[in-house]
Amino acid sequence: MLIRPFRPADRAVVEHLLTAAFGTPATTADSPPIEVGLNTALLGSDALLPHLALVAELDGVVVGYCISTRAAIGEAEALGLGPIGVLPGHQGHGIGTALIAETVRVAEEHGEGVVVLLGDPAYYGRFGFVAGSELGIASPDATWGEYFQALRLAAATDAHRGGFRYARPFDEL
Ligand SMILES: CC(C)(COP(=O)(O)OP(=O)(O)OC[C@H]1O[C@@H](n2cnc3c(N)ncnc32)[C@H](O)[C@@H]1OP(=O)(O)O)[C@@H](O)C(=O)NCCC(=O)NCCS
Repeated sequence: MLIRPFRPADRAVVEHLLTAAFGTPATTADSPPIEVGLNTALLGSDALLPHLALVAELDGVVVGYCISTRAAIGEAEALGLGPIGVLPGHQGHGIGTALIAETVRVAEEHGEGVVVLLGDPAYYGRFGFVAGSELGIASPDATWGEYFQALRLAAATDAHRGGFRYARPFDEL
């Protein structure tokens, strides 16, 4: 498996991947999952960090995708991870794990302080994510509860406390 940065030529296959990963029985070509539109908006926004839009390739085929964009905790810069998705036929084989591990590695390399996401603690806990509240990071939506998760990296500081704000496209969901 190869993890590499997203390229514009990957756009259609990533849209298909996110549709498959997040689709429900109600999903149609005319009403894709919200993650598809969110991802398009993130890729076109000034919150895009091209080195943190990653695809996982297996035998030349894109089977996984993970994007992290510029977010904020109080006055400090942070990362918001998501959407992340793996093609249903390839789930459960470590691709999501590899995408998250590479995201954390690249984020550390670039001196990022904190990665934040909305996801299942049972999954993200294995990467060291904990409830944001344990780190003094307040969720933009109290109903997210324990699903609001954060990971402090080596460059985290005391400034990484307070209210979390995703990139603007998340507000438009
Ligand atoms: C979540 C997702 C990205 C994980 O990718 P993956 O390649 O399937 O994950 P991995 O193979 O690295 O890890 C699989 C492990 O995670 C667990 N897992 C996967 N998704 C989980 C979830 N939502 N909640 C809890 N555990 C989960 C699996 O049970 C498996 O556990 P095991 O190692 O004990 O067998 C992928 O399943 C997916 O695209 N899901 C649909 C879209 C989605 O929910 N995205 C995340 C929104 S936060």
